[in-house]
This record gives sequence, structure tokens and C-alpha cells, in this order.
Amino acid sequence: MIVLPEKVKYIIETLEENGYEAYAVGGCVRDCILGRTPMDWDITTSALPEQVKKVFHRTIDTGIEHGTVTVMLQKEGFEVTTYRVDGDYEDGRHPKEVTFTASLIEDLKRRDFTINAMAYNERVGLVDEFDGRGDIERKLIKCVGNAKERFSEDALRMMRAVRFAAQLGFEIDEDTKNAIKNMADGLRRVSAERIQVELTKLLVSDHPEELRTLYETGLTKVMLPEFDLLMETEQNTPHHCYNVGEHTIHAVCKIRAEKILRLSMLLHDISKPECRTTDCDGRDHFKGHPAKGAKKAEEILRRLKYDNDTIKKVTRYVKYHDDKPNADKISVRRTISRIGEEYYPDIFEVFLADRLAQSEYKRKEKLKYVEEYKKIYEEIMRENDCLKISDLALNGNDLMGLGIQKGPKIGETLKKLLDYVLENPKKNTREELVDYMNTFLGE
Ligand code: CTP
Repeated sequence: MIVLPEKVKYIIETLEENGYEAYAVGGCVRDCILGRTPMDWDITTSALPEQVKKVFHRTIDTGIEHGTVTVMLQKEGFEVTTYRVDGDYEDGRHPKEVTFTASLIEDLKRRDFTINAMAYNERVGLVDEFDGRGDIERKLIKCVGNAKERFSEDALRMMRAVRFAAQLGFEIDEDTKNAIKNMADGLRRVSAERIQVELTKLLVSDHPEELRTLYETGLTKVMLPEFDLLMETEQNTPHHCYNVGEHTIHAVCKIRAEKILRLSMLLHDISKPECRTTDCDGRDHFKGHPAKGAKKAEEILRRLKYDNDTIKKVTRYVKYHDDKPNADKISVRRTISRIGEEYYPDIFEVFLADRLAQSEYKRKEKLKYVEEYKKIYEEIMRENDCLKISDLALNGNDLMGLGIQKGPKIGETLKKLLDYVLENPKKNTREELVDYMNTFLGE
């Protein structure tokens, strides 16, 4: 059932030959039992870091203060960690002295979930003191021992529980879930960077609807309180059948499992609560929510320490998620030019996901419109139409050569030329543009 890669076997056997115990441990054992290919292989050993370093030729002190040494075999690195009895205080501010132990079971006891607390080597077989295999069969995320203790060792584990549920399609054990509900506030101690990693993993998983569990347990209240507001915002309009939060969850589920797209759906309606107005017929409107939402999305993504590229793209999708040009070439060209060619064709996935998470009202028409819009876009791309200033047949230097003064006038003129060409793509030649310029420059 578990087949150790040759190099892992070599490391374990070498440690054993030197009188130590060693096992593959944690995620790799879990993944093997699940029939998944492990991302990496962690090894746990009774040898102290200095002893590990003596046994192998090439090692790197990656996390020596936590007892971790990376053993290099050819170009591949394997983390070998000494048995430990304490969890890290992983808030980054309180590095704690680690205490080593001679007992594998003591090491497994301090791990987060039963499915992550199994060890394996060929000599002993599977060490599964906490019935991790049973919990895999029962599809359960369950803390090792006392859930409260596990979560006070590292509050991020509460998000990890929900993330594993989302990745594996498992339930969270009742005791474990109750402990999260009681301790959710402790997530405040955890760094934004670590929270971000878990949120992203959850979003790109097979079950991003587990966002609902983040909300129900009180975790979003800490890391994404804006989402709680969505869950509390009804939308009384025929276009919708859910509150904004539920619509958001459905929209996230409807889009491809890719970080930018999933984050865009998570945040696309983030400003609906503050934009909500109710007309005299009792119908809700959310005027201006995409532009406001883009600003709020940026604020949230910065707070969660996402990188600039992610922030730029997601805010763009949020800002334009509801742009609906008329289904004609001029309008579509103008829209592509304004949004940016590089956001196409993915933006169609955003449109579709949003619409598929709405009510059935006018569903057919909405989907037909997206198809038409997309067709026109494809035609424009095939024809290689000019969509940006750098595609124009004239550039700033040309304009100066034609006697326009250096300065803002150049930019203004180029913009006018682009507007002209977006309406008349065939006019993107030097001659035609010069002719056109003569119609307004003399003004
Ligand atoms: N672990 C833990 N508590 C944490 C983080 C990790 O107990 N807060 C333990 C678990 O036994 C886990 C192992 O360390 O299996 C390795 O952690 P990590 O590499 O973060 O996770 P994996 O379980 O390997 O899963 P993934 O690679 O999907 O993150």
C-alpha cells in the first residue's frame, strides 16, 4: 500500500543502520493511504539534528531550531526532523524552545489531525496510534487527542481542518468543530501570510463550498469579516435566489479551480452590502458595487498579503465582472480596450460563473448573451484589430515629427486616434490617421 521512494528508503535505512529510528510521517503517509501522490516526503527520527548531520554527507540547516535538517541526495532535499513533544507557537513572534523526545508516539501525539499522525517504515509497517486510517475510511478530520490543546498550540490548525475537509471532501468531527467554534477568535494571533496560504488552498480545492464552514465556525469573522456581511445581505431581485454570501459560494464553485479566478469570485460582490438600496416596489439594487468592490478587494488582498500580480488581476476582474457591452463589434472592441486584452478570454469564465450562481430568471438569455459576446471577441482577435495605443499605426515620435508638441498633447491625440480606430479598425494606417488628425488639430 505504501511504497517508499528509493531515496526515502535510503535515508531511513541509513539512520537505522546507525542505531536510530526513522519513519516517513505526516502528509505523505496520509496521501499514500488515500491513493494520492505525496507532494513531498517528511521523515521523523529519534536522531538529534547533530547526529543526522554526522550520518549524511550533505545537509542543510533549514529549520535546525525546530529540529529539522534537510538531507540532500543528488539535487533532491528531504526534511528530516527529530521527534518532538511540543507544537510550534507558529505566530512567528514567540519562537519556542523545542523539546526532543525518544518516543515516536510522543511525536505523533502533538500533530494536528489523526490522518496526519501516522508514520511508516518497512521494518515496522504502519504506526497508527490514533486510528488515522479509520478516520480516512470514515472521511473525518479529527484532532489528535484534545482538540482544544491542539488548537491552542497552533491556531492556524483551525483553518487547516476546514482546508483538509475541502481538499478531501471529508467532514470535520463534531468535537473538533465545536472546539473551532469556541476558539475561532484565537486565529487573530496567526500571521496573515499563513492564513493566506490556507485560504488559497481551500479556494482551489474540490470543495470550495467549505467556505460556508469557515463562516459557520466563526473563522471568517476573524480573517474575512467582509464575508460575514455578505451572508447577512439578502437580495430581493428576480435575478437572485440566494443571499450575497450564498451566491458568492455558488459562484466560487462554478469557476475553474485556479487561484485568480476563485479569488475573483470570492470578492466579486464584496461591496454589495454597502451599495444596497431598496426601491418602492421592494426590489433591491446594488448600484456601483463593482467599482467599490474593486477597492475593497484590494484592501482585503493587501491585508492578507497577496502578491501584487494577484491583487492587480483580481481587482480587475472584480471591477469589470458586470460590464455588459452591446453585442456589436464597436462596443466589444471598446470594452476589451478598456478592460485590457490580457484579461480575456478568462473574463468570460467570470461572467458565466456569476450568472450560473443566480436564479433561473432569464438564464437562457443571459447565457446566450455571453456566447454572443465571446463570439464577437473571437472575431476581433482573429482579425487582429487594434485595441491599444501601442497597436496604432502612429506612435508618439511620429506625432512629434508631424509637428505636435511634446507633452500632454501627444497622449491626448493618441487617445483620440485609438477611439477612432476602435470604431473603424480599417483606418489604422498612417495615411488615414494623418487625415483624421487634420480634422481636429486645426480646431
Ligand atoms: N503539522 C501539525 N500542525 C501544523 C502543521 C503541520 O501537526 N500546524 C504536522 C502534521 O503531521 C502534518 C505535517 O506536520 O502532516 C506536515 O505539515 P505540512 O507539510 O504543513 O502539511 P501536510 O500534512 O504535508 O499537507 P499539505 O502538504 O497539503 O499542506
